[in-house]
Amino acid sequence: MQFKKNPVFPARFMWGASSAAWQVEGAVNEDGRTPAIIDLNSKTKKGYADNSIASDHYHHYKKDVHLMKEAGFTSYRFSIAWSRIYPDDSGVVNQLGLDFYNNLIDELVKNGIEPIVTLYHYDMPVWVDKKYNGWYGRGIIAAFDQYARTCFKEFGDRVKYWLSINEQNMQICYGKWLGVCKKDDTWFEDQWKVNNIMNVCHAKAVIACHELVENGKIGPVPGYVPIYPETCKPEDQIAAQNAEELTEKVWNDFYAHQKYNGFIKAYWRENDIDPDIRPEDLDDFSKAKIDFFGVNCYRSNTAKYAASDAEPKDYILNKSGEKGNLQFPVVPGIYALTSNPFVKTTDWDWEIDPIAMRYSLRYIWDHYQLPMVITENGYGAHEEVSEDGRVHDPERVAFMRDQIFQVGRAIQDGCEVIGYNPWSFTDLLSTGNGMSKRYGLVFINTTDNDVRDLSRIPKDSYYWYSNLIKSNGQNWGEESNGKL
Ligand code: BG6
Repeated sequence: MQFKKNPVFPARFMWGASSAAWQVEGAVNEDGRTPAIIDLNSKTKKGYADNSIASDHYHHYKKDVHLMKEAGFTSYRFSIAWSRIYPDDSGVVNQLGLDFYNNLIDELVKNGIEPIVTLYHYDMPVWVDKKYNGWYGRGIIAAFDQYARTCFKEFGDRVKYWLSINEQNMQICYGKWLGVCKKDDTWFEDQWKVNNIMNVCHAKAVIACHELVENGKIGPVPGYVPIYPETCKPEDQIAAQNAEELTEKVWNDFYAHQKYNGFIKAYWRENDIDPDIRPEDLDDFSKAKIDFFGVNCYRSNTAKYAASDAEPKDYILNKSGEKGNLQFPVVPGIYALTSNPFVKTTDWDWEIDPIAMRYSLRYIWDHYQLPMVITENGYGAHEEVSEDGRVHDPERVAFMRDQIFQVGRAIQDGCEVIGYNPWSFTDLLSTGNGMSKRYGLVFINTTDNDVRDLSRIPKDSYYWYSNLIKSNGQNWGEESNGKL
């Protein structure tokens, strides 16, 4: 539908930004924290900074919260590092780890900023990985439950919005990239066992949150990428549906309906896959009713028909930051991804598609009728400080303006959206490109090769966003791009 008026955002809309522990905190060996698998995984992607210093948020959190307050934030999404809370298998909680998050949460609450906390964002403690064989072993279920319960008990008096596992679907679909897959040659089958164990952990967290946090709300955080068919050829439409099922809908249906959907059961049967679902898992699933969806949405994809005898191709992400360096996947008989001539792309070949945001929100709302909070959305770019000492990021301003406007359009369409928390508040380590791919509203003065002074420099996008959110989404700025 077309609307004659600009969108109006609800009162108490949660305007903020996002981060994840291993991507911002640094201080990996301080105050009792022990290594996480992602510390090791990020070292395999050298060419860029590992996370031992990152944005040094651990030592700058007060300054960072002050900048959030100045900007007018009413929310901040961050994650807790499991290995700060439980550094080893002794079952003894690390008080210094609790202190750090208690201080951060207190600082946020004092400044009127609602904490939105992710329990797990790719950083499994190495001791858990070794003891239980990572996500492959069912021993992780009790360990995760213990960790989640500790977080709810310690922080639940002030944290009311919780997120279970970040982008579980992407961890499964890109298991090798994100360090979940341990054995390439059996991953085709293993991924569904791993996924079931993750689902049990998600369910345990949902159940425990409702038990332990008064008025606590909890949701999953799927990575959502709408998939358009390349043409109106019916086979392309089915290919787009297949891609959507196998990269996101299987997960979203599971979270909302608390059971596996018919598509994935048929897929397992067809491929002789046993995901090892136990009766007690089904019992946990039936009790794990989520309260909302976190939505990570950056881009769209396009799919087309792939014949059963097509040559299979892996998805090779663009790691160079120079356009044109990616390989689209081909999954014979199911789908192939392809480029979309109607949208521009970033230097990493990510589609710049604000309509995808409106589409995602409408899709999730139409299917599940649950409130949504945007937990990630953002523009990765090469950036530096200009001669005038400022950081000019007009592309990010344009990106955010267009994306937020489409969030507003989705609200006008009838979707219940309760917050917008783009990626990211400060610059932080990208999963594959370190500090070379910057996402922040605030520049961190460091590079992949040179730590510099780690000073915080708000970018033009910070000031633009601040004006918008202080007007609760009414002041779109001079560059209104046709907005009313
Ligand atoms: C999301 C992740 O998938 O995308 C973040 O939750 C990640 O951890 C973000 O940083 C951007 O991706 P990338 O690869 O550019 O860092």
